[in-house]
Amino acid sequence: MNPPVQFLTRLAKAFTNLALYREGHPSRESALDDAIEALDVLLETDPEPDFSFLDGDIIYQDRPLSELRNLPLIKHLARRRIQRIEISAGLTRQEFRTFLQEASNQLNRPADSLSAGPIRFPHISFGRLDTGEEGEEQVTPFELKAEVEKVDFIREEASMKGRISTALARAVVQTLSTAMRYSRNIMVPLLSLKDVDQYSTIHSMNTSMLAMAMGEYFRLPKQQVRIIGEAALLHDMGKVTIPLDILNKPEAPTEQEWEVIKQHPVEGARILLRSPENLELAVIAAYEHHIRWNCKGYPLLHYKRRPHRIAQITQICDTFDAMRTQRPFQGSVSTAEILSTLSAGAGTDYQPDLVRAFISMMGEWSSQIKEIDVGSESTPSTMRELL
Ligand SMILES: [Fe+2]
Ligand SMILES: [Fe+2]
Repeated sequence: MNPPVQFLTRLAKAFTNLALYREGHPSRESALDDAIEALDVLLETDPEPDFSFLDGDIIYQDRPLSELRNLPLIKHLARRRIQRIEISAGLTRQEFRTFLQEASNQLNRPADSLSAGPIRFPHISFGRLDTGEEGEEQVTPFELKAEVEKVDFIREEASMKGRISTALARAVVQTLSTAMRYSRNIMVPLLSLKDVDQYSTIHSMNTSMLAMAMGEYFRLPKQQVRIIGEAALLHDMGKVTIPLDILNKPEAPTEQEWEVIKQHPVEGARILLRSPENLELAVIAAYEHHIRWNCKGYPLLHYKRRPHRIAQITQICDTFDAMRTQRPFQGSVSTAEILSTLSAGAGTDYQPDLVRAFISMMGEWSSQIKEIDVGSESTPSTMRELL
């Protein structure tokens, strides 16, 4: 039996035995051990497996596992609208065991008593796709407003303590990435700005989602996609050091104010360096995201060099979101216009191959990029697009 088939077969058996036998019963324990053992074998061949359940089929690595068509577990999951299991590198036996018990508890409750929401552990998640009105599919089953609050908190901490909670940033990126990979096709939910005070948070999240979309487009491994997402999420952290009267100023900044604004990449890198875990690529993206492909921009480099690839990706996604988020009140800029601005800057401001890839991605995935609302209504101001 091949590893994914064996894993799912044993997973199904574990769910059955968890439902039938009490804690500590040998049949329950051996089913759990068997599932864990099958997981170990699967992880040897695929460190980050995920499975989607669609119309009686289990999709693994873009193809249905025909051996498992109509496995009773799938019908059971389908009744709960659970459509995906996703595993990322680092899943331990203990976490998998706890996850199985929690998932089994939820699955064995009557369907109508099940509260909405996926089961999410740090390295394994189990999701359901809730639909709203008949026929109207939600872009993501995840409540991204909660992630907005987490990013607000990260920024607050950066502002008050001069460092961030890396674990919280990773949790946000994990949710965004899972939300994107939830259905058969990648979905890129872009948040729309409603409240000027949330500009930086929304902009960070959108830049992160676009950067991860690029990673997905290049078919990079999940772990790398998340590292890119993390760097993009944190790229503007240094903005917390810019006084609000400069940040919120409706007119163009004075020369002195520009000097303060131009410090945000250095300040951002400093904040990330003070944070407890290794954020090497995020530090580079924060420091270099305003250094252009032709080595112009800021901060000034003593020795001219191209920005790092992580900064090149961040920069393109940063520009796209800044133009798309800021302009509506100035007369909206269409996606086509933004892409042509990027294209015009290819080879001078931006790395040309990456711009081409970004434009192709936006074309191919146009129906998968969805605007969604979070936050409250108010009018955005003008200055922030410059940052
Ligand atoms: Fe930015
Ligand atoms: Fe910036």
